[in-house]
Amino acid sequence: MSETETLGIGMVGYAFMGAAHSHAWRTAPRFFDLPLAPRMAAVAGRDPDRVAAAATRLGWESSETDWRRLIERDDIDLIDICVPGDLHAEIAIAALEAGKHVLCEKPLANSVAEAEQMTAAAEAAAPRALAMCGFSYRRTPALSLAKRLVDSGALGSIRHVRAQYLQDWLSDENAPLTWRLDKTKSGSGALGDIGAHIVDAAQWIAGSNVTGVSAMLETFVEERPVGGDFVGLGGHGGTDGPKGPVTVDDAAIFTARFDDGAIGVFEATRFALGRKNAMRLEINGSKAALAFDFEDLNSLWFYDSAEAPNAGFRRILATEPEHPYTGNWWPVGHGLGYEHAFTHQAVDLVEAIARGEQPRPSFAEALGVQRVLAAVEASAADQSRWTEV
Ligand SMILES: NC(=O)c1ccc[n+]([C@@H]2O[C@H](COP(=O)([O-])OP(=O)(O)OC[C@H]3O[C@@H](n4cnc5c(N)ncnc54)[C@H](O)[C@@H]3O)[C@@H](O)[C@H]2O)c1
Repeated sequence: MSETETLGIGMVGYAFMGAAHSHAWRTAPRFFDLPLAPRMAAVAGRDPDRVAAAATRLGWESSETDWRRLIERDDIDLIDICVPGDLHAEIAIAALEAGKHVLCEKPLANSVAEAEQMTAAAEAAAPRALAMCGFSYRRTPALSLAKRLVDSGALGSIRHVRAQYLQDWLSDENAPLTWRLDKTKSGSGALGDIGAHIVDAAQWIAGSNVTGVSAMLETFVEERPVGGDFVGLGGHGGTDGPKGPVTVDDAAIFTARFDDGAIGVFEATRFALGRKNAMRLEINGSKAALAFDFEDLNSLWFYDSAEAPNAGFRRILATEPEHPYTGNWWPVGHGLGYEHAFTHQAVDLVEAIARGEQPRPSFAEALGVQRVLAAVEASAADQSRWTEV
């Protein structure tokens, strides 16, 4: 019996996304029959003790204290980028030029110029080395099912796209000044961190692109404590110590037009008190409508005007074996969680690499998202002027 060829993985960063991606690489070959066997070769960080401890905890064979070492190693075929946005372009371009596949977290970059350079590097490297951006929500089964329904024509022509990403972890004005609040590290605030996800999901599911926007950005808390206790994304920075400036938006709101004639409303905020991870999408077509809320992630709500016009939305529990990804997991109704989308992302990436095909979302698609983010910033800086993407 021939052994499955391995795919050596080298991951940069080992905190939130590092843990989610490690879980995915560990789990994917145990629940899915993969054409290549992911081998968790090495994780890179800066501090030797901490990265070595992370390697042991997360299941990596070894650790490195410079991400460049991962690219130099012959036993590593794919670089998985789980660090803040200011490092994405440098690492991804170096990896692609060295012939390594790349999985890069979202948003692709901190600017359109960087995203363009990354896309050019990806296009030059393909098909020998393939690149994908980590818009992981695409792989949540209920959202994949939404895409399948739109593609089947069930909704008819799309008229409204309503997208929100609501969190509240910055509501405490003494939450610490993390890299997510520093424009030089994150590129933007709620807009790039969570707004990027709903722009990608909306364009992908609707099957059309945003062509123009009118936007508002707001920063509610302009200074925050430096240091402090970190819990999850935020934490509490205390009230007595030094403070530093917040240089990004706390909230982003914009209206949009799509190239197929649909109109959209987008909202991304980390100040929506009571909403923890409400990534929501509602699409109204000429025949039917669908609605999703990540706080109830196994459900897709569907309304078909021909089916039962007076009955309102009905719930589809997206755990049937015929629904995307779910057949490889638990018996129906047992539900999946946040981490499963990352496992599905790893599965789809490995399968695309084995076939030598472009994985989705490509860097070019993620560049499209980056252009929408840039148009939002330009519009907001100019009194919400209508701005073409
Ligand atoms: N797909 C999603 O749903 C999702 C969710 C959260 C974050 N993200 C994205 O993932 C990326 C990382 O975010 P996070 O939440 O994991 O951040 P995090 O703060 O939890 O982790 C960042 C990691 O990067 C490391 N790091 C920073 N600078 C480094 C350097 N020079 N060399 C090596 N390591 C370095 C840190 O030590 C840490 O391990 C960001 O691009 C973010 O937008 C995606």
